[in-house]
Amino acid sequence: MRKTIEIIRSPAAMMACSAELKAKGMRLGLVPTMGCLHDGHLSLIRLLDGHCDVKMASIFVNPTQFGPNEDFQKYPRSEARDLRLLESVGCEIAYCPSAADVYADDFTSFVEVGPIADRLCGHFRPGHFRGVATIVLKLFNATRCDAAVFGLKDYQQAVVIRRMVKDLDLNVELLFGETAREADGLAMSSRNSYLSQEERQRAAAIPQALETARTMAEKGESNVERIIYSARNVLLNSQIDSIQYLEIVDPESLEPLPKIDRCGLIVLAVYVGKTRLIDNVLIGPAGRGKPLIANIV
Ligand code: PAF
Repeated sequence: MRKTIEIIRSPAAMMACSAELKAKGMRLGLVPTMGCLHDGHLSLIRLLDGHCDVKMASIFVNPTQFGPNEDFQKYPRSEARDLRLLESVGCEIAYCPSAADVYADDFTSFVEVGPIADRLCGHFRPGHFRGVATIVLKLFNATRCDAAVFGLKDYQQAVVIRRMVKDLDLNVELLFGETAREADGLAMSSRNSYLSQEERQRAAAIPQALETARTMAEKGESNVERIIYSARNVLLNSQIDSIQYLEIVDPESLEPLPKIDRCGLIVLAVYVGKTRLIDNVLIGPAGRGKPLIANIV
């Protein structure tokens, strides 16, 4: 293992490095990130243990996955701190390219994943998953990773990437990490840093709403409207500013589930102040503790 993390700043240098490691028979693992790392990211790096010889992470705030009125400019950036954290969990290579190197002036090719990318977040963030799939494919190509890890807080993203890997015959083993949570249950997210103290307190209603839904289903409630009604009330009673979507869907297809007669996924996107937060949990039979979309590729 290298003593200090190696920082690679261009796709060409990354390709040269991965070619060299591959020639030595190394299996390479990647955690793609946009930086501003938290314990959730670090747990994804740890998941690579046993799946590769060299652990890599990318740090790249990808412009093509942000809409024109979204937070690309203000997205938190903390590279020096991120590199220290990566090193602390044995990550050996940090791929941190510049936007100009990733997207040349004449760049025009994108990955379209299809209908699964148009629901939920995709409906409210048109083009978002096209940007995500495109950058993830580019990261896979530059790093030539054999395994890659994604967090399940971004559940739809995980499903979209799994679809792309299958459809495009990408030879990458996908691993999915459970959502890391704060003590009060709030899902860890780089965007939590936008919240004021008062907003942060209100945001605790998000996991409470999901837990309300999960408990109802566990106790045998199968009526989706009743579960959504109760979860919505938890959010509104805590003055969550607005609910963009709150749905129970099939965990594989992401289509609405009419009745909880099998495992479902309750998914939401809400605004706390100006900050958009997403979360999800499995509910219903076989809901609790199941490894979600497991590694079905
Ligand atoms: O989940 C993220 O941080 C990003 O969407 C990803 C996968 C790094 C692509 O930019």
